[in-house]
Amino acid sequence: MRSYSLPSGAQIPVFGIGTWRMGENGRRQAQELDAVRHALDLGYPLIDTAEMYGEGMAEDIVGEALAGRKQRPFIVSKVYPHNATRTGTIAACERSLKRMRLDRIDLYLLHWRGGTRLAETFEAFHRLREAGKIADFGVSNFDLDDMEEAARLDMGLTACNQILYCLSRRGPEFDLVPWMRKRSIPLMAYSPLDQGRLLETAALKTLAADVGCTPAQLALAWLLARPGVVVIPKSATRERVEENLEALDVKLSPDVLAELDRAFPPPRSKQSLEML
Ligand SMILES: NC(=O)c1ccc[n+]([C@@H]2O[C@H](COP(=O)([O-])OP(=O)(O)OC[C@H]3O[C@@H](n4cnc5c(N)ncnc54)[C@H](OP(=O)(O)O)[C@@H]3O)[C@@H](O)[C@H]2O)c1
Repeated sequence: MRSYSLPSGAQIPVFGIGTWRMGENGRRQAQELDAVRHALDLGYPLIDTAEMYGEGMAEDIVGEALAGRKQRPFIVSKVYPHNATRTGTIAACERSLKRMRLDRIDLYLLHWRGGTRLAETFEAFHRLREAGKIADFGVSNFDLDDMEEAARLDMGLTACNQILYCLSRRGPEFDLVPWMRKRSIPLMAYSPLDQGRLLETAALKTLAADVGCTPAQLALAWLLARPGVVVIPKSATRERVEENLEALDVKLSPDVLAELDRAFPPPRSKQSLEML
């Protein structure tokens, strides 16, 4: 699978499974665990999670799904802004490692800016890197002004920015996406299906039928065709986990890309970064 280089020299794969909403409801947990295990069996190379998801329960599910496997995927997790102090970041990371039964997180992100003192968070990230507890660090939900501040503080080590980005949310293309691309900072596109809303769009359904794939596959393939973009759809359903992975095989012609631009036009002016 294609991948992008991170400051540590590690490679981040372009595709993985998201875990938001997992672990929130005891009655759904067995199905969620089964979906994550199924994703790993199919070869999903990356899992995205966070201490926030199910207040640690999603990381527990990830740990359970990883147990006993010889090969482990690339692991992304995130620290809450209210934990992202000089010492709080380190304690939060250690709790996440324990829940996932791991000794290292591949990419550790500040979940959103909030009231964080970024210099303190980055100091903690550097200490975690030196201790081998994380390999790379980055941010999430950072608009251009926050990214510029991060760049001033981190000596070029911010490995990625995870943001809301999909066909129906193209605002970042005006300024943030080109800024990140110029610096070779991968963009992790979260809610790539707009949490399912995008799939109800008539234009997407029609074009997907023309291409010979499902609407979800078309939405994911569009993101996968964009340079520097990593895509992390969440599903707790076996069949959808399979369907989403098959988006990697969908090739989009210039005509289809042009149709998608007509149906979901790129921005013509600055739009503040949206967040879910
Ligand atoms: N950094 C952040 O602030 C942030 C914010 C949001 C999300 N994220 C990350 O990004 C991941 C993905 O985003 P998301 O979970 O918000 O939304 P999403 O991946 O766009 O959509 C997930 C929803 O779509 C459904 N779905 C998945 N595949 C489908 C398919 N092939 N056909 C029809 N429906 C399908 C899922 O239902 P089922 O589960 O029932 O299949 C679920 O309801 C998250 O799980 C999380 O890891 C990060």
